[in-house]
Amino acid sequence: MDTIFGIDLGTTNSSLAILRDGIPTVIPIDDNGLVPSVVSLDPESGEFVIGRRAKRRSILFPDYTVKSIKRLMGKDTMTRIGDQELTPEDISCKILAYIKTQGEKTTGKTISRVVITVPAYFNDAQRRATIKAGEMAGLDVVRIINEPTAASLVYEGPDTEAGRHHILIYDLGGGTFDVSVLRIQGEVREVLSSRGNTQLGGDDFDRKLLDHVLDHLRMEAKVDLSDDQRAIARLTEAVEQAKIRLSVQPFVKILEPALAEQDGKPVHLDMEISRSTFESLIEEFIDATFYEIKHAVEEAGLEPEDLDRVILVGGSSHIPAVIEGLKTTLGLLPELAVDPELCVALGAAVQGGIMAGEIFNQILVDVTAHSLGVRVVGEEDDYFDAKPDTFAAIIPRNTPIPVTRSEVFFTIGDNQKKILTDVFQGEKKQCSRNEFIGSFTMPLHPSPKNSQIVIEFSYDLDGIIHVVTEQKGYDNRKEVTMSVRERGAGGVQASISENYLQRKAKKLIKDTESPEDDPLKIQLKEALDAYSKAISSGAPEEDIESLEEDLLDAIESVEEDG
Ligand SMILES: Nc1ncnc2c1ncn2[C@@H]1O[C@H](COP(=O)(O)OP(=O)(O)OP(=O)(O)O)[C@@H](O)[C@H]1O
Ligand SMILES: [Mg+2]
Repeated sequence: MDTIFGIDLGTTNSSLAILRDGIPTVIPIDDNGLVPSVVSLDPESGEFVIGRRAKRRSILFPDYTVKSIKRLMGKDTMTRIGDQELTPEDISCKILAYIKTQGEKTTGKTISRVVITVPAYFNDAQRRATIKAGEMAGLDVVRIINEPTAASLVYEGPDTEAGRHHILIYDLGGGTFDVSVLRIQGEVREVLSSRGNTQLGGDDFDRKLLDHVLDHLRMEAKVDLSDDQRAIARLTEAVEQAKIRLSVQPFVKILEPALAEQDGKPVHLDMEISRSTFESLIEEFIDATFYEIKHAVEEAGLEPEDLDRVILVGGSSHIPAVIEGLKTTLGLLPELAVDPELCVALGAAVQGGIMAGEIFNQILVDVTAHSLGVRVVGEEDDYFDAKPDTFAAIIPRNTPIPVTRSEVFFTIGDNQKKILTDVFQGEKKQCSRNEFIGSFTMPLHPSPKNSQIVIEFSYDLDGIIHVVTEQKGYDNRKEVTMSVRERGAGGVQASISENYLQRKAKKLIKDTESPEDDPLKIQLKEALDAYSKAISSGAPEEDIESLEEDLLDAIESVEEDG
């Protein structure tokens, strides 16, 4: 059987791992387990360089180098590198393609099937973008798994006799923060809750420290370097190094000679920073993570004293304020994972091994990190507003996956012509504040107000959302797959079964002896064909809607005529 590799596509660093004789092992790339997630364009050769070489170029060629692209995954935005405009997927694809080719050189094996990790708190769009980047890099992404869940797979559970064991995984990396609470019992690892913030990590700490240094230069040297790209690139590197050293020493000196020129004279930076200054600069971020862990424990149905272990993952969890704060918040001494920066990739390799059948007896139960639901008319709505904005969750967050759930809704008018199903992901009561995933309409059989509409959602391990709407009692249903894989930029894969309108039009045509002589029937047949074709070819929902209107008009004309 083909090996399934594990890849941690991190904000700052990425890693590749494999299961070797049952033991997860990191595959070194450029002689190192961590590949900086940095992409740089060499303007002379027109070629992209990735990883360590790209990181080194970031100071000299800031305009040609991109870091931390993971923070933009799932967003509809372009990043300029030199004269090229690239999407976040394009840039992540370059990192993954580099890992693939370099990993193949190191191992002598073809790397095709992979498990890629994402922050537990990534939403559908961010997961979809990750899969797309993998596919663009020529990888078969067999599964996307959550980073803290992956990290937990490396962690040895207790003996079965010891019974249940609860662990909290605190993962603070370069760009994202995730916390998951797991229950381990025998071979079953069950995620009880996950929370996080996809825009909180070491990058933010670097920025705070950078602002602090820029303020210092403004005060002391009377120079403002905030628009000097090259100085900023140098200082960003310097403050990151200082931050890392502050995890093990109480003071650091930042020395950067000849940062820029002012009135023909060089500007030097010579500054001492204390750990306590740094920690007060980032206090709000660290406190925000403690807020999340308290809620994660609560949502898991536990008290802090129920936790057996707290495992630290991610480079930023080395910060002493994190360790101290966790001790106070949870009353438990947190432990750094065996390899805080690598254990996510190692866990992805374990998951690959489970999927390839190399590891038996491991059952992993993961949860949805966000609620999934639809737009309804409800308490969040102003009666006079044209569009309702109430979000009704069908699959609440922290539900173990795979899962299927359904809810019944009611039509709001007599003979309502159709229902629009707008699917959202998030925790806010208003749809407008949640993440939009996709939408589709279903024509309705004429029925009185308050007729039942059942909406069923399924969410599988690959994050594929399957929605079925059914008009109860009328043999009228519509199935839509909002697939992480298949969904293109715009729409959703729609409609498997024939709907009520199509059946009605067919029946009207069939009831006529010679429809070819009746201009209204010819019109109806044309409208039906165009509509059916649009549905089966997965045309954009706006086109389907407008063809649906045409079909409804054609049906009405025939009915009025008859
Ligand atoms: N000893 C340390 N003390 C403080 N910060 C550190 C230390 N070592 C690394 N970091 C920071 O950790 C971050 C990188 O961590 P890591 O490699 O776990 O992130 P990542 O996996 O790339 O990011 P993410 O998981 O958010 O996508 C960087 O911001 C780096 O500066
Ligand atoms: Mg990470």
